[in-house]
Amino acid sequence: MKETTMRRVTGDPWAGTPTGTHGGRDGEERVTFDERHATQTLADAQRKQPARGLVGRDHDQDRNMVARAVMSAPSLHNAQPWLLRVRPDRVELYRDTSRALPLIDPHGREATISCGAALFGIRLAVAMQGHQAVVPLLPDPDTPSHLATVLAGPPYEASAEEEHLFEVMPRRRWHPGPFVPREVPDHVTAELETAVRAEDAWVRDVRSTAQREALTGLTNRAAEVLARGRAYRDEVATWNRRVPVGRGVPGVRRDGAAEHPPAPGLWRTRLVRPDTVDGDPHRDLLLVVGARSDDPRGWLAAGQALHRLLLAATARGLVASTLTQVVEVPRLREALASALRLPGAPQFVVRVGYPTSEVPSPPVRSAADVVLG
Ligand SMILES: Cc1cc2nc3c(=O)[nH]c(=O)nc-3n(C[C@H](O)[C@H](O)[C@H](O)COP(=O)(O)O)c2cc1C
Repeated sequence: MKETTMRRVTGDPWAGTPTGTHGGRDGEERVTFDERHATQTLADAQRKQPARGLVGRDHDQDRNMVARAVMSAPSLHNAQPWLLRVRPDRVELYRDTSRALPLIDPHGREATISCGAALFGIRLAVAMQGHQAVVPLLPDPDTPSHLATVLAGPPYEASAEEEHLFEVMPRRRWHPGPFVPREVPDHVTAELETAVRAEDAWVRDVRSTAQREALTGLTNRAAEVLARGRAYRDEVATWNRRVPVGRGVPGVRRDGAAEHPPAPGLWRTRLVRPDTVDGDPHRDLLLVVGARSDDPRGWLAAGQALHRLLLAATARGLVASTLTQVVEVPRLREALASALRLPGAPQFVVRVGYPTSEVPSPPVRSAADVVLG
């Protein structure tokens, strides 16, 4: 383990934004793959890494930082399916099953990916508080909604990369619209791929015309298949309504289609309305991401990889959105894995590019709603 000195970061990238109010956005540990994925129990983890205190002199401030980091994470249809318990020496992350989307996400895969993204935020916040975090995943077999516990480990100095990712966290936005016609340079693509791999996930850059066409065709087929279900459309509409407060996805209409469809000529955007096919093939960077396993552990890894990828993109002035339809129809998901010769089941497809416009902040749940007791 590298030598570190304890250092608390005082800068708050959310300074000036209200905590836990509608429209506001509130706040990594360095964990090696082996530490996170070892089949360790919570007790094992505590024996190996006795908690040193996650929140120190200013409990409220540190708690806010963790809550804000979670509330900044992306989530399926902005459902924000997470709950937190913040203790002086640990943060427990739960999936909020009351915010499930059973038709879109029957197995809770995308909700767990969303919580994995939140977990990455917690890890970053803990690193910025000067601790190495130790993260037993799925620590309680009797409570499957308890997805992870983040324990504050020994003193740790966040890397320059972690500091940068943390700093841009409040600025990261989902961008479902079109991008400017400018290619993402290869060295930036390589950086994004490194971000994904650092989270023990795999990534495939879809470049060849044949592979892009295969992805397009399957995505559009999936959009059509999904849109046939009336109940499915209703579920999309429910989650894209702006009420109750804390819901809705900026740039997405109630029927789930983008207000300004991305990539004319390539795909039908989310769900329901086929967008007209017309125009030049676009230059979006298209990345397909998956994990070692297609189960809650793999979904948590995919979610952490997603958030790290998005923050790395933000740090480079890029924006992104996902194309998840094809992964939501089992036979088309298999067809995609086969067409692209993927190493396993894809978890999501991300399109990355330079923004044409600014996207407003999404509505967020209040901290009081997310942080338990
Ligand atoms: C697993 C996952 C799937 C998503 N799928 C969609 C989607 O199908 N359509 C969409 O508009 N946004 C999708 N999103 C993005 C959310 O809408 C977005 O994260 C949310 O609105 C919060 O906005 P923000 O990412 O700008 O913070 C998805 C996010 C995640 C994590």
